[in-house]
Amino acid sequence: MKKLALLAPFLALVTIEQAVAADAEKGKALFTQRCAMCHGDNGNGDGPLAATMPEGQKPRKLSEGLGANKYATDDAKLTELLQKGGAAVGLSVLMPGQPDLKPADLTDLIAFIHSLKTK
Ligand code: HEC
Repeated sequence: MKKLALLAPFLALVTIEQAVAADAEKGKALFTQRCAMCHGDNGNGDGPLAATMPEGQKPRKLSEGLGANKYATDDAKLTELLQKGGAAVGLSVLMPGQPDLKPADLTDLIAFIHSLKTK
């Protein structure tokens, strides 16, 4: 029992560490599966489906950073957009929600989105 009590703070630290350490590589895999067909592999808004979308509802160029977004200008709003989809935050329905992603998946995805910024 005493041993367990001594271990507890370390276990707590490990858990916190896992919760905050975003993994952009995992995020990249999610992005390739779920986002690149519209936003493009490098987030330039040039995925194969982009050409099928009407002017004014083109996939955002994520390479321009959160500052270029209409709604998702910070991580909290980006998380909300990714969970609920475009229509729920006043954007196009063409931007789909990802309600099945776990919080850790979202953190990884967001870390990768930040890494796409070139400007
Ligand atoms: C079917 C095409 C499609 C897919 C798949 C898609 N998006 Fe989008 N996304 C769009 C469109 C279209 C817009 C622009 C919406 C608008 O301007 O109203 C957009 C906008 C955005 C924006 C900008 C929001 C803002 O506030 O301006 C972000 C960030 C974004 N998408 C991230 C993602 C991520 C991350 C994924 C993958 C999980 C993804 N999108 C999947 C089509 C898509």
